[in-house]
Amino acid sequence: MRNAIRPSVARLPLFGSIPTADSLAGSGPAQALLHLNECPYPPSPKVVAAIQEHAAGLNRYAEPRPERLSTMLADRTGVPANRIVIGNGSDEILALISVMTLEAGDNAIMPTPSFPRYRIAAAMQGAEPRLVGLQPDGSNDVDALLAAIDDRTRVIYACTPNNPSGAPMSMADLERLVHGVPDHVLLVMDEAYVEFDQFEGGVGALPVLQGRTGLWASTRTFSKAYALAGLRIGYALCGSLEVAESLVKVKTNFNLNRLAVHAAVAALDDQAYSDRCIAAAVGERERLGARLNGLGFRTLPSRANFISFDLGRNSVPVMAAMAVRGVLVREWRDPGFETFMRISIGLPAENDRAFEALKDSLVATG
Ligand SMILES: Cc1ncc(COP(=O)(O)O)c(C=O)c1O
Repeated sequence: MRNAIRPSVARLPLFGSIPTADSLAGSGPAQALLHLNECPYPPSPKVVAAIQEHAAGLNRYAEPRPERLSTMLADRTGVPANRIVIGNGSDEILALISVMTLEAGDNAIMPTPSFPRYRIAAAMQGAEPRLVGLQPDGSNDVDALLAAIDDRTRVIYACTPNNPSGAPMSMADLERLVHGVPDHVLLVMDEAYVEFDQFEGGVGALPVLQGRTGLWASTRTFSKAYALAGLRIGYALCGSLEVAESLVKVKTNFNLNRLAVHAAVAALDDQAYSDRCIAAAVGERERLGARLNGLGFRTLPSRANFISFDLGRNSVPVMAAMAVRGVLVREWRDPGFETFMRISIGLPAENDRAFEALKDSLVATG
């Protein structure tokens, strides 16, 4: 008789622990944390004040569907508040989408390399993650995503701008995807970095999604542009009440913490602060990109708070050598992309440090 652990869970890879600001605290000189696409700036002072104000209220649970926050998001996006579901990070929402849609034998179509949650969450359900490669510029390959659909497809993910490559989808690609996915298949657009794209004139997927007759959701987060990664709060804009209410059915009732909810409201109230963080990231990304190009590396076009490029040799030893020099970056890991590296945009001095560490590490690893 098999033990209690479901085979689909037993088969999942166990990821090693990821260094974080807390795990590294007190372990020598400050490291440049350029491996998690976090915002290098602290949250807005208004957010910090809101957290302080509400800390004494933590004996009470948060609203399962925070009304004020949902209304603020509705005002900004045009998606009615009753079609917005707030999650413990958008990662939670992405995981719940699999629970809501996938059974053993079903498949979920997703870009690769991209955010690993789509694949892990599908595999956990005993469903088949159907991986579709990117276009040469790093954006999602719409024709290949559409071609992968069959009668067991329940959900199809797209990521724009895509992590780890950085490229957003073009408007023509968005149109083809949004109108090409059959109505009964849930189209999930992961827009974790949409605010960075919008800052540079992008419109994101929402205007196109609003014209879709079938099922859809757009997932977004306060972790990046609003500097709240450590609080865990994200949300889904849903195309219908059915999708929103199904997500609510599969989530735990009190999935949110009150500080995160109040902090998110305060962060939206201080959009100017977020805009400054975004502007700094975009400016620094361009500066670092130009320096990398100067070294002869071809950087991928990015509309997010990170930049990726092909080192032309295995990136793992170079990454390790950079870590020794106090700079944490990320290799792509995916088969076929062993020579790629992603650098999250940090403070100007951290980006300079990353550049110097890269140059030294290239020499050190020969
Ligand atoms: C593409 C993408 N989606 C979703 C997430 C999850 O973000 P969070 O759970 O912090 O909202 C990330 C985080 O890095 C991401 O890169």
